[in-house]
Amino acid sequence: MCLVHMCGGNANMDEIMAVVKEHNLKLVEDAGQAFAASYKGTATGLFGSAGAYSFDFFKIATAGEGGIFVTNDENTYKLADSYCDHGHDHIGNNRGMENHPIIGFNYRISELHAAVGAAQTRKVPAIRTANLKHKAFLQKELSKVQGISFSKLGDDNGDSGTFLNILMPDTETAKRTVDEFNKAGVGGFNYWFTNMYHFINQWEHIKGLKTASKLPIQVLGAPQDYNNLQLPKTQAVVGRLISFGIRCTWTEEELKNLASKISECATKALKPVNA
Ligand SMILES: Cc1ncc(COP(=O)(O)O)c(C=O)c1O
Repeated sequence: MCLVHMCGGNANMDEIMAVVKEHNLKLVEDAGQAFAASYKGTATGLFGSAGAYSFDFFKIATAGEGGIFVTNDENTYKLADSYCDHGHDHIGNNRGMENHPIIGFNYRISELHAAVGAAQTRKVPAIRTANLKHKAFLQKELSKVQGISFSKLGDDNGDSGTFLNILMPDTETAKRTVDEFNKAGVGGFNYWFTNMYHFINQWEHIKGLKTASKLPIQVLGAPQDYNNLQLPKTQAVVGRLISFGIRCTWTEEELKNLASKISECATKALKPVNA
């Protein structure tokens, strides 16, 4: 099972782990957006056999590019260590003479990027504290607008505070709200349903399995026809969701301004619903 902790939050791990145990599954966690998030005191990414955090330019800690892979299993660690670096086993002090237990790829991070990532990681507790304060302010202000609700996390105490996730009553209202944001020049949000490559509605390349070279599933037979994959419950939730990226650098004035602009736009978009 590959679990994605989206928008800086945490999934309900008690429920997920019950399914993992019941069906004897291996859990792999994509905590790409959830570095600094946790569930009941355990960091996201540490529940499964392996986890990963993205350190791209958009994340709470950035290395410019790159990320971190975590596992508690020595064999998995060694395989990942070799896989990301041309299969090198990293034993000894002569790179040219190292052995290659497997075929690997060139996914290794550079020393320079890693140094930036290490420095940025030290700032994460302070960034998270500021983010959570800003998010709490926005949620307090926006909860005054009837019709706006907020997505729920598995554990509110473990939020990394990187996203404010607004849920509108339905997809049409969310689309109208996005139109109002665009008209009013409100930026800094993602409407995953139509705009972003994170959601299946924009995955024509995956649905069509458009690849530069053949994938194993194309040679051996695809287990899933992505063109006919129907996800009505997911579509209904993601259609309602608008996510604002939180900035730790926002001033009080910027926060107040943003809260009032979001409220105004949402109120206009909600008119037909509340009428
Ligand atoms: C949830 C999630 N997983 C994985 C990734 C990929 O991260 P990277 O580009 O660092 O490999 C991203 C990047 O946006 C992400 O948001």
